[in-house]
Amino acid sequence: MVKVPGPFKTPPSITLDPKPLADVPDAPLTPESGDARAMRSASRRSEIPVFEVMQITDEVARRRHAGHDVVSLCAGEPSARPAPGTLQPAGYTGPLGTTPLREAIAGHYRDWYGVEVDPGRVAVTTGSSGAFQLVFLTAFDPGDRVALVSPGYPAYRNILTALGVHVIEIATGPETRYQPTPQLLDEAVREHGDLAGLIVASPANPTGTMLARSELQSLVEWCSAKGARFISDEIYHGITFIDAGPDSRGVSAVELDSDAIVINSFSKYWGMTGWRLGWALLPEDMVAPFEALASNFALSPPAPAQELAMRAFSPETYAERDSVVQGFAKARALILDAEQSLNWGPAAPSDGAFYYYSELGPQLERFGDSSSYARALLEGADVAVVPGGDFDPVAGHRAVRLSYAAGEAAVAEALDRIIRFQG
Ligand SMILES: Cc1ncc(COP(=O)(O)O)c(C=O)c1O
Repeated sequence: MVKVPGPFKTPPSITLDPKPLADVPDAPLTPESGDARAMRSASRRSEIPVFEVMQITDEVARRRHAGHDVVSLCAGEPSARPAPGTLQPAGYTGPLGTTPLREAIAGHYRDWYGVEVDPGRVAVTTGSSGAFQLVFLTAFDPGDRVALVSPGYPAYRNILTALGVHVIEIATGPETRYQPTPQLLDEAVREHGDLAGLIVASPANPTGTMLARSELQSLVEWCSAKGARFISDEIYHGITFIDAGPDSRGVSAVELDSDAIVINSFSKYWGMTGWRLGWALLPEDMVAPFEALASNFALSPPAPAQELAMRAFSPETYAERDSVVQGFAKARALILDAEQSLNWGPAAPSDGAFYYYSELGPQLERFGDSSSYARALLEGADVAVVPGGDFDPVAGHRAVRLSYAAGEAAVAEALDRIIRFQG
């Protein structure tokens, strides 16, 4: 076997624990004193060997970039590329993404948040959805408890459940602007036991609400004191409509704690949903276990998307995307102006993202629940809205979510039809 020198080391966690997963205790570790976070290590199931070939692929690319004439007999991919005009050639990249893109993402944190991020802690993924899967696998074991709010983005709950993690749903409403608070987390611990993690999103889906810097800080501190991983979904950063001065694009958790896990994506602000590209900022201790999982589960994030995404961070692109956000703002204003005519119930404050989440109020008497309302609206007026059940299994049957990402003209037409439909 060829010995490869350099960075292709098996991660320190490589000693496979002979204990089967079924023996993993249900109760998470309880931090007693000191730095509680040090008590929480990467998950046992991330203790798999890294797929070394993918690390070598990464190193080959780095060396070629640095001008070396590398002959690679390493990767399992055809070197004869498709003929021009037929298919576009693209090979694997390193399992955590290309070095230039990881550096560019770190640069984005310098530009937008004024914070230095080590590119070595940036992991490029197949959308933020890919980041969730790998982060949850790296951070949590079956039986761990992870908190999130409802209403909230349903995939957090569903991915965690599929991975055998207990989801602790914290019901929220207008009192806390649909966001968690340290008090709500204390109550959740009293009721369910210690938490291994907390997931927050600001702006959130479906409510659009945002956390102020001090609120985010109090949640980060709560997690740090309790030894729980803090996971911040920042996919809607930049799509915001409130004036919070320098915090107007959203506050990144990495500004407050370099050990926070940040997840983001090119899907929303940059409008690149179909390119399937996102990223995670990982705490130091999670990088090697994450890479082990990523190199086996995904091999590498999509190469052409990574190349294209290099253009995302230019001043021209930011300006173009900001003008798109201004278009969302106009569409949002149309909905807010139409609130009275809609004759629905109370809505969440739509600080950001492109969602308007509202109780249906008087419409419920007529239609029963939000699913029936949505179905009737689609059949009767050809307007599609999302009933709230996916976001909130308990109270979502009373609410609907409108996305104004479709733009001003589509929203104007939809509002017109909804108001006529309701009569
Ligand atoms: C809050 C939130 N997070 C993550 C995602 C996943 O996006 P992607 O996988 O395209 O990055 C979505 C998609 O709607 C979302 O609303």
